[in-house]
Amino acid sequence: MASVGGSVVRDLEASAEDAELSLRPLSLDEYIGQSQAKASLKIYIDAARARGESMDHVLLYGPPGLGKTTLAHVIANELGASIRTTSGPALARPGDLASILSGLNGGDILFIDEIHRLPKPVEEVLYSAMEDYTLSVVVGRDEQARTVEVALPPFTLIGATTQAGSLSQPLRDRFGITVTMKFYTLDELVKIVMRTARVFAYPIDTQAALDIATRARGTPRIANRIYRRVRDYACVLGRSSIDESVTLKALDVLGIDNLGLDESDRRILTVMIERFNGRPVGVNAIAAAVGEEPENIVDIYEPYLIRAGLIDRTPRGRVCTDLAYSHLGYRREEK
Ligand SMILES: Nc1ncnc2c1ncn2[C@@H]1O[C@H](COP(=O)(O)OP(=O)(O)OP(=O)(O)O)[C@@H](O)[C@H]1O
Ligand SMILES: [Mg+2]
Repeated sequence: MASVGGSVVRDLEASAEDAELSLRPLSLDEYIGQSQAKASLKIYIDAARARGESMDHVLLYGPPGLGKTTLAHVIANELGASIRTTSGPALARPGDLASILSGLNGGDILFIDEIHRLPKPVEEVLYSAMEDYTLSVVVGRDEQARTVEVALPPFTLIGATTQAGSLSQPLRDRFGITVTMKFYTLDELVKIVMRTARVFAYPIDTQAALDIATRARGTPRIANRIYRRVRDYACVLGRSSIDESVTLKALDVLGIDNLGLDESDRRILTVMIERFNGRPVGVNAIAAAVGEEPENIVDIYEPYLIRAGLIDRTPRGRVCTDLAYSHLGYRREEK
């Protein structure tokens, strides 16, 4: 049974990945939002193409699901370049990176996802590769060890990270272009949902797209995920398109409220209000009370709760705001 369950989970994950791939826009024009980033990237791309040179290295920074991987592929596509992708955790030893670098052709793009997770010795190989396209490899051991420098073809590194703060200064300094991704506006998210509906050939009306956009936390991946769940629901009801009434029912079944909070988010707020009576409380205490890892609270749940104005971070701990009380239907006792 376990293996059956496992394969089902894998299939679901694989199909979610396929869905993400098929949803990716391929050109800057199709890429919705991030207008400032797009405008400057367009100049760098045009200049590199006009000079026939490889483009400067690019660092893409922003929270999960905002379109970093998508943008890396769009850049490669606009440059007419091949892209090789890998990630920080996949490059365990300097040799792993060296073999990828030595396989690059002139003008290629190397995309390193989660670049903040590169081990230090691997990161050091990257320094000279980025700076003057040389690969320094140590050959031999002990007293015989010597460094050999190998020339690399000019290439463009695109690094993506959700945590610019944990990138070392020497690495950060070697990127000529840094793009800070922004959360998307409602209008942009509506466009993304409408586009996704066109790709899936399962139409949605504008009001229903807006209902989804409102709950998407400024994030295209979440907007697309909610769209797919709503589509499933509409499909089961035998509908051939999505309107507001089916969307609101599906959202209700999914437990996603009008601020985009799900069951887990609401549980965190409820615990803070009920169990801790609204007093400032530390992350570890919250995590223990809801049965989550403290890192999940900090990395996954809290950023949006803070951004939505539901939690404040104070020197004495986290507190729920008045908005959190009213959103969950509590009356705040007089302090
Ligand atoms: N600007 C955009 N226009 C249209 N669709 C987008 C845009 N940005 C992202 N998407 C869609 O959102 C999904 C998530 O994007 P992507 O995988 O590029 O995010 P990411 O920033 O790389 O996330 P992570 O940090 O988790 O790697 C993709 O399926 C993509 O199709
Ligand atoms: Mg990505």
